[in-house]
Amino acid sequence: ADNTVYRASTTAPVNIAVVKYWGKRDAKLNLPTNSSLSVTLAQSDLRTLTTASCSATYPEGDTLILNGEPSDVSGARTQACFRELRARRAALEAADPSLPKLSTMPLRIVSENNFPTAAGLASSAAGFAALVRAIANLYELPASPSELSLIARQGSGSACRSLFGGYVAWRMGEKADGSDSLAVQVAEASHWPEMRALILVVSAAKKGVSSTSGMQQTVATSGLFKERIATVVPKHMEAMEKAIKERDFATFAEITMRDSNSFHATCADTYPPIFYMNDVSRAAIRAVEQINDAAGRTVAAYTFDAGPNAVIYYLEQDTDIVVGTLYSVLGAGIDGWKQSIVESLKQPAVT
Ligand code: PMV
Repeated sequence: ADNTVYRASTTAPVNIAVVKYWGKRDAKLNLPTNSSLSVTLAQSDLRTLTTASCSATYPEGDTLILNGEPSDVSGARTQACFRELRARRAALEAADPSLPKLSTMPLRIVSENNFPTAAGLASSAAGFAALVRAIANLYELPASPSELSLIARQGSGSACRSLFGGYVAWRMGEKADGSDSLAVQVAEASHWPEMRALILVVSAAKKGVSSTSGMQQTVATSGLFKERIATVVPKHMEAMEKAIKERDFATFAEITMRDSNSFHATCADTYPPIFYMNDVSRAAIRAVEQINDAAGRTVAAYTFDAGPNAVIYYLEQDTDIVVGTLYSVLGAGIDGWKQSIVESLKQPAVT
């Protein structure tokens, strides 16, 4: 009998969208109502490290340890990822009977985040990207990052973008089976090496309304949302890709801020309204406006996910005016800033 424990480890970074994914057209397959675009925060401390192992000697059933705690694997999202990865491994085993039958063995996943879970810091993105790549490595699947993104998407939509470093688009696709709803790299991180991101952690508490139920409520009750997906996002996607290609920070920043505002406006337009930003978040918006006004050009851009924490994009050469001013404006006057993490985007994320 084969008593071997087969094992593979990987890490995946978080990504922060500059054109937001918000809304599902198919909740089961995690198919989005719109395309989105993000920056992968590579070389950062915001990562998930995951080890996947399997063995015929493991007791029955797949298990997951998340940050040291046994975690549920029976959820439909996790099950979908396991099922897709096992099916691909089973196909390899059918084609080559000399391969060990890993697809039939229980899986044991051990995963650590080094940042607060579910605090609007995209933990599910890094988490499912790492989970899918760890198992794909364990199974020795000959899959490209875009192919793996199709699987990670079913775990958490935004996770499909964490399979790539740099600037990443998630193309919404058209097909009902989701086979064309995948992530592609728009540009390497090295294309724009001066890009930096600063994360202002307002609160590390778990967010109030999950992205899944927030999206569901927005799609069901917001009229503004229809306008967002029909005209606003397509325009933002086109302008953002052009701005990235041309390394045009002023346009990159304006679209980033407009898209964040548009997303949060649709949340406020739901019934009842959803508020992810708080007073401290709004103070960060004012501070960025002040910095840009004082500089006489756009040197900083804010964006917020489904939580109160701000991500500020800026260029390396403007570090002093952006970071210096933020610390003095926000640090002195507001109690809410628990910690701040300076991110560097120097290297591509995927190893
Ligand atoms: O991947 P999910 O289901 O947690 O959704 C993420 C949604 C946002 O973070 C708000 C936007 C995005 O594109 O990442």
